[in-house]
Amino acid sequence: MLLPEVIMTQTPKEFQALFILAFLGFWNKNSVHGANKYYVYSPVCKMPSVNPFTWDTMNNFHRKKLRQCNNDSDLVTSEFDFETHHYRLHVHEHLAKPFLNRKGNATLECEYRQISRDNSSMKPDNTYNQLRRCPIKHHQFVPNHTDYMITSCYVKDVSRHQELLQRDAISFIEDRLPKEKVRDFVKEESEVHKPSVLIMGLDSTSRINLRRAMPTVYKFVKQPGWFEMQGYNKVGDNTFPNLLAALTGDSEKGVRDYCDVRKPGCLDSLNFIWKRFKKANYTTAFAEDCSSISTFNYLKPGFVKQPTDYYLRPLLYAIEEQFKVTKDFGSAYCVGRHLSFSYVWDFGQQFIDRFLGRSPMFGILWSNSFTHDYFEGATALDNLFWKYLKSFEESGLFRKSIVILMSDHGHRYNTLRQAATGYFEERMPMMFIYLPSWFRRKYPHLASNLGRNQNRLSSNYDFYMTLQHLLHLDSTSVDDFPDSLKARQCKSCHSLFFELPFNRTCQMAGIDEKWCCCQPTETITNSPYARIIAEAIVQQMNEHLVSQNLAHLCHNFTFKNVEKADRKTILSNGLRPVDRNEHVYIIMFKTVPKNPIFEATVHWNNRTQRLRHIDVEDLSRLTSYKNDANCIRRKNAKKYCICKDSLSWPSTY
Ligand SMILES: *[C@@H]1O[C@H](CO)[C@@H](O)[C@H](O)[C@H]1NC(C)=O
Ligand SMILES: *[C@@H]1O[C@H](CO)[C@@H](O)[C@H](O)[C@H]1NC(C)=O
Ligand SMILES: *[C@@H]1O[C@H](CO)[C@@H](O)[C@H](O)[C@H]1NC(C)=O
Ligand SMILES: *[C@@H]1O[C@H](CO)[C@@H](O)[C@H](O)[C@H]1NC(C)=O
Ligand SMILES: *[C@@H]1O[C@H](CO)[C@@H](O)[C@H](O)[C@H]1NC(C)=O
Ligand SMILES: *[C@@H]1O[C@H](CO)[C@@H](O)[C@H](O)[C@H]1NC(C)=O
Ligand SMILES: *[C@@H]1O[C@H](CO)[C@@H](O)[C@H](O)[C@H]1NC(C)=O
Ligand SMILES: *[C@@H]1O[C@H](CO)[C@@H](O)[C@H](O)[C@H]1NC(C)=O
Repeated sequence: MLLPEVIMTQTPKEFQALFILAFLGFWNKNSVHGANKYYVYSPVCKMPSVNPFTWDTMNNFHRKKLRQCNNDSDLVTSEFDFETHHYRLHVHEHLAKPFLNRKGNATLECEYRQISRDNSSMKPDNTYNQLRRCPIKHHQFVPNHTDYMITSCYVKDVSRHQELLQRDAISFIEDRLPKEKVRDFVKEESEVHKPSVLIMGLDSTSRINLRRAMPTVYKFVKQPGWFEMQGYNKVGDNTFPNLLAALTGDSEKGVRDYCDVRKPGCLDSLNFIWKRFKKANYTTAFAEDCSSISTFNYLKPGFVKQPTDYYLRPLLYAIEEQFKVTKDFGSAYCVGRHLSFSYVWDFGQQFIDRFLGRSPMFGILWSNSFTHDYFEGATALDNLFWKYLKSFEESGLFRKSIVILMSDHGHRYNTLRQAATGYFEERMPMMFIYLPSWFRRKYPHLASNLGRNQNRLSSNYDFYMTLQHLLHLDSTSVDDFPDSLKARQCKSCHSLFFELPFNRTCQMAGIDEKWCCCQPTETITNSPYARIIAEAIVQQMNEHLVSQNLAHLCHNFTFKNVEKADRKTILSNGLRPVDRNEHVYIIMFKTVPKNPIFEATVHWNNRTQRLRHIDVEDLSRLTSYKNDANCIRRKNAKKYCICKDSLSWPSTY
């Protein structure tokens, strides 16, 4: 099981180097340079194309089966009645017949309890209201204020003894649009054509892993009309900063000037793009699975005001609390009778069915359940996800809408991250943008700019501006966007529908040195000063434990060995380092106890032999801290704390 790691650490360094050369021609300074080996190739940015099928990522790669969450049929189903524009409930009593017969003259009785968002709570994202029980009458209409419900069906025998047969959850997307609005839209649509927008996100999925693990979905997004943003580079470590940049134009650090995201109300005050779509009369929706690790809720209070017109969270929160949850791939997988994933995508299907052609729509569907922790989880999802894409297609989504398949970042730990291509794997999330054919015909210049930008360096902030652009399609240049609409943390970032500069640096795209994939590196793993630099980093890590008052909880680090060391030849601003003695190094090293592997991007001056101060919070931890950091709660500190009380426990790594 540990084969890749063993090979990376225990073979002679010569072999490692040979292996890197063999599989990654671009790593070798002397290899033939050609744009086809790069996603982006300019004097200031050379982003290599990465082979998903290298030996060190494939040799222990297994395709996983999709595990079903139930073997029985739904006793209660809902159906939207297009004549009356209301939902109906159906009870399928015949499915329960065998069971009823076995019980003598028993009857089936079903009831529901409405679930709703608790707007009176201080933290409405972390609670819900549950209303009284109502019996379900066959084919009954669902009251039109109902967003979600939990249903229960019981077998009642002649002596009125009852036994629970099935519980389930149903969400509804009720049509609350005033008739005049729909009429105006339908009338307007023939001339103006506001594109609907649907963002579909799979957490922790690099473009590289999409090709490796989801060949069917990859084939789908290679069809005409799709654009693959090959130079899309993440701007932050985990989900929150990356989605924050993509949806608000802010950075995690920059937001601190406005408010504290850990306090209720802060997130509500940010420039979320869905607010602008709402203002432009779009109907909006947001759904994300795995409620405890949801992007805006993990160690944060979430939204006080419901962020979008339709919002699945209260239901997911309720059922994760009430139903049996089984885990797979590290996260909530089955919640009751369905996949955590399916609640989100079924909700998306309802959203499309309800509003496509009746209102412009803006929706975000985000899923963590298969992909957050295990890169092989995506293999189990491939076919199911494709089925949803096909179903969305049949509903007409791709005729009307701009559709985006994206992720926040790639894998940050273990096998993929420690592979030779791991640096890129982590930093190149997938970003595919679909333009419907009417849009390509009406705005050929925008489509051709997007086409050209596929191989330019781009970032989350550009994505934010792209969404802004969709609300101002009559604008003719970047200058048409007033400062108030620009991404707050990257004023030089702009829509992907305007041509990005050829000589674009990471700095211009709002990407910090640490995340920048542009710079060719030289491997210096074997040089004597790699070890000296790593030891200086370890020294600063230990000082950090003291300054954070964590020294009593966390064990000091002792340097063990350098796994890999690279030197950047140019910087994120496109220049060579000013001081010829100072360079940027990417050092991957191991410490004891417990053998964690870290990666740091640091400035080292080889004349003064000094390391510029590093922010230990920015270190990457390439091995899981699952069994090491249970003594502290703070997320960022977990990655650099080896709890003293964990040392007697068996380690899995
Ligand atoms: C469904 O049936 C299969 C085979 O009988 C069984 O292995 C599996 O555990 C069942 N699944 C559930 C969710 O009951
Ligand atoms: C079920 O009810 C029918 C008539 O309602 C009766 O004839 C029959 O004996 C009952 N069967 C049992 C097992 O109670
Ligand atoms: C909701 O239902 C009530 C009562 O059935 C009705 O008066 C009201 O007009 C309905 N609202 C909408 C938006 O359909
Ligand atoms: C939104 O709809 C209202 C009413 O239909 C209309 O007056 C307004 O101009 C619309 N706003 C935009 C930005 O289209
Ligand atoms: C809570 O507030 C939102 C608007 O922010 C509204 O759409 C929703 O219907 C409210 N829910 C309840 C149960 O009152
Ligand atoms: C990019 O920069 C190089 C040199 O740094 C320059 O020769 C070239 O003209 C620039 N290309 C564009 C399109 O600006
Ligand atoms: C841990 O490292 C800090 C900083 O270098 C040092 O002050 C402290 O004495 C060390 N503690 C132990 C137990 O070695
Ligand atoms: C520091 O590194 C530079 C660039 O590799 C090299 O030219 C220089 O000789 C080195 N200086 C020392 C003191 O090692």
